[in-house]
Parts: sequence; structure tokens; C-alpha cells
Amino acid sequence: MTKIIVVQSFRGGTGKSTIASNLAVQLATLGKRVLVIDSDTRSPGIHALFGLTPESLGSTFTDYLLGHARIEDTIKDVSEQLKMPNGTLSVIPSSIILGDIATNLSSRRNFNKMRRAIEYVVDSTDVDIILVDTHPGVNEDMLLTAALGDVVLSVIRPDNQDYQGAHVTAELMRKLGSNVHLVLNKVHRRQPPTALRRKIERSLELPVIGVLPFTEEIMFAESQYVFSQKHKSHPFSKKIAEIATSLGDINEDNIKA
Ligand SMILES: Nc1ncnc2c1ncn2[C@@H]1O[C@H](COP(=O)(O)OP(=O)(O)OP(=O)(O)O)[C@@H](O)[C@H]1O
Ligand SMILES: [Mg+2]
Repeated sequence: MTKIIVVQSFRGGTGKSTIASNLAVQLATLGKRVLVIDSDTRSPGIHALFGLTPESLGSTFTDYLLGHARIEDTIKDVSEQLKMPNGTLSVIPSSIILGDIATNLSSRRNFNKMRRAIEYVVDSTDVDIILVDTHPGVNEDMLLTAALGDVVLSVIRPDNQDYQGAHVTAELMRKLGSNVHLVLNKVHRRQPPTALRRKIERSLELPVIGVLPFTEEIMFAESQYVFSQKHKSHPFSKKIAEIATSLGDINEDNIKA
């Protein structure tokens, strides 16, 4: 049974693409067959983290949404490039061509196409886990995509604006039946993670699946590679591996709890 994990956040720059790509690598390291879909057609970024240049993208998710490509032709297997020893890792990038980004894609059409894309992957490939990276904010696209997920990871930073945004978004997503977990990212070393986690779980009434430290080296990496793959023993990578393990362990019984 393919598991669908949607990564979203109310505000931009919380770390969605960083977390989606690091989770993908860790899940593949655990032996899973993983596919990442960059559904953020307005500000795509996943391709950069996987070392794909704009010229090497070929057919993209945007091309599929515009009716210019079949979904099966947009999947790029990056397992060899990323030297995945166990599982497999594929990505469906979004177009980084100005004209494509500027094209106004209607949400309703996007949703139906997103649903069909996921149906294709579930029915016609051996992928175990689909990770969907999304555009920030509350919009129809994101909510409808979240409704397709078995799990929604809502990424927040330790910041009141993020807390309030996550609260509102989760309320909406709960109405759509989504199973929302918070990922707390960019936590400073002077912010005690356990106390912060407790405070957030209590005030937002949502489970925190992981607390990730603010990591200067990730900034210096400039989204040119997937951090946890190169720095396996770094605290950030260990925490990502823990989240990947708990996501990998989530089964049918506790998915829709
Ligand atoms: N734990 C972290 N510590 C330090 N920097 C981080 C961390 N996580 C992400 N970053 C950095 O923060 C910036 C934004 O990250 P990222 O692009 O993953 O966010 P995003 O939520 O996908 O953004 P957008 O909303 O624009 O899609 C990047 O420069 C990234 O390297
Ligand atoms: Mg992003």
C-alpha cells in the first residue's frame, strides 16, 4: 500500500523542501521506494536539492498539469546519481521556465490532475512512499492536495506567526479529514526542544513528530545537496532519520487515527 505524505506550511521558508528532500533520502536509505513530487509550480525548488539543473529537467509536473506531458514521462530516477544503496529515489520536478511559472493554472483542474497523478503512481509503479512538497499558504490547491495525503506534515518555526498559521490551517485540514503532524524546524540551541515541543503540543493540540535544530551548515549548503546524506552523524540528520523511521512505521491502523 503506497503511503502519501504531504509537506505544507502556512508561511514561506519554513523548510518544507529541505525536510521533504531529507526525509526522502532517509526513507530510501531505510529501503523504501520513494517518489517526491514538487507540486510547488509557483516557486519550485526540489530539483536543486537533488542536483538537477534547469536544463536537465526534461518533462516536468508543470508540463503534465498543462497537458503537455504524460505523468509517466515526468518521473526521474535519481537513485544512482544520489548513490542510494537500498531503496530507490525518484522525483517529479516542476518547471523552472519563466513562461511555465507565469501560466495561470486553475486549482480545480490542478486537483483533478494531482489526484490522477497519484492514482497512476499507486496503481502502476512499485513506489512505497510519495512525498508531496507544496507551495506555502492556505489555498485551494494545498487543501485539496492535503486531503489526498495519509499524513500531512505541517512545518513551523518557533515563531508565533507560524503557530497561529498552523492552528488555522490544521483546523481547515481536520475538516477535510487530514491527519496532521507538526514538524518544528530551525530551533535555536538556546531553545530547549522538549519544553518547546510540550508548549506547542498543548497550545495547538497537534502532535509534534520531530524537532529539528537550526543548522548553519544547511544555510551554507545553499540547497545544492541533501544535507543528511553528506552529514549522517549531524544532530539534524539524526532527527530527520527518526522522523523517517516513525513515518515508515506508520501503518493503516494509525494513519487515519
Ligand atoms: N534546520 C535548518 N537550519 C538552517 N537553515 C535551514 C533549515 N531548514 C531549512 N533551512 C534553510 O531555510 C531556507 C528555506 O528552506 P526551504 O527552501 O526548505 O523552505 P520552504 O518552506 O520549502 O520554502 P518555500 O516556502 O519558499 O517553498 C533555505 O535556505 C534552507 O537551506
Ligand atoms: Mg519549498
